[in-house]
Amino acid sequence: MAAEKFSAVEVIRTKRDGGELSAEMIDWTIDAYTRGVIAEEQMSALNMAIFFQGMNRTEISHWTSAMINSGERMDFSALADPAGKILATTDKHSTGGVGDKITLPLAPLVASFGVAVPQLSGRGLGHTGGTLDKLEAIPGWRAELSNDQLFSQLSTVGAVICAAGTGLAPADKKLYALRDVTSTVESIPLIASSIMSKKIAEGTGTLVLDVKVGSGAFMKNESNARELAETMVNLGTDAGVNTVALLTNMDTPLGLTAGNAIEVEESVEVLAGGGPEDVVELTVALAVEMLAGAGIKDVDVRAALNDGRAMDKWRAMISAQGGDPDAKLPVAKESHTVVAPAEGVLLKLDAMDIGLAAWTLGAGRARKEDSVQAGAGVRLHVKPGALVRRGEPIATLLTDTPEKLERAIELVQRAVMIGSEADRPDMRLILDRISAS
Ligand code: URA
Repeated sequence: MAAEKFSAVEVIRTKRDGGELSAEMIDWTIDAYTRGVIAEEQMSALNMAIFFQGMNRTEISHWTSAMINSGERMDFSALADPAGKILATTDKHSTGGVGDKITLPLAPLVASFGVAVPQLSGRGLGHTGGTLDKLEAIPGWRAELSNDQLFSQLSTVGAVICAAGTGLAPADKKLYALRDVTSTVESIPLIASSIMSKKIAEGTGTLVLDVKVGSGAFMKNESNARELAETMVNLGTDAGVNTVALLTNMDTPLGLTAGNAIEVEESVEVLAGGGPEDVVELTVALAVEMLAGAGIKDVDVRAALNDGRAMDKWRAMISAQGGDPDAKLPVAKESHTVVAPAEGVLLKLDAMDIGLAAWTLGAGRARKEDSVQAGAGVRLHVKPGALVRRGEPIATLLTDTPEKLERAIELVQRAVMIGSEADRPDMRLILDRISAS
């Protein structure tokens, strides 16, 4: 057996004492952890040392490359449409929020301009929903595609939303599961390298990041969200991926729905030229960035929502994966409406509490192996900034398990804050745009 180049104890001590990890140390660490030479307790200690001491730009870049090299890399450079025209690829990643259904209208919208959109997505864990869980509310729709099916659908339809294969950055999968149970998720270098290793391995030409900031996001304040966005944009740019980020508000849920089937329904409204204005605004802003990155500028993106082009792509994308775009979506068996306790301006509808309520009602899962209820969730009737009267409906809670209602009602009541005109909240959705430094 060949001797190991380093020891885990040496690597942990270097980082614990504030030192810099060399490229060789990082390559060895990720490889040795994947091979099982570094034990889980040693990797936990190293994660905690990174959590407290951080990593510099060079270390984060090496750490990301080492995770990419732990698995396969996809290559879309030869992707062409059926007539043989080479297609540019563009992708979006959100750091996760409540009611964040943007991928659903966005992928077909961007594809309607002739750019290929491979959206490799995940399932939800905790209070944020998962794109695949939402789409699985559509009868017949399949999340799992082989690489051949993915390429073929990209070539013919132009848009795919499917499960990321297990071959992409497997070291990250192992590491993320460990971080989840050792309270080391909220570290900017670890989040940035985790997300970007998967996105770079996925092989897209352009990447637009939607970095959420606020109560329902990983990053609760703007300066941390900005640092995360800058770190990810630099990683993408250094790896040759055209990357920009938008910093967007996640103090309140996006749109009027948080759940699975109800978020699909809202996305279809957007694709039909309607839907809540915040969902439309963010979908259009991200589409403009994705298209610009792929070289398409000065196009009227909203027009493709209003004239049916994006809807046609949606229908083709859903059908190609076995779904029936005309099928009736599942409806929850029970509902309960929470009303305003007083008259005044709705100052707050806390995203975290609404996300937890939707999760409690059955829209999300506590463990990876749990299933979700397609019809469960929270439907909002008003958004912050609105004037409400006492007794006016604020939110309707939907579930198949009525025993969950009591706890969810408490959460929604806690989410609501009503006050006076003078305290009207800042309603900006897009806070900033970050490009490479
Ligand atoms: N999403 C990821 O993929 N990784 C993280 O570390 C956090 C969010």
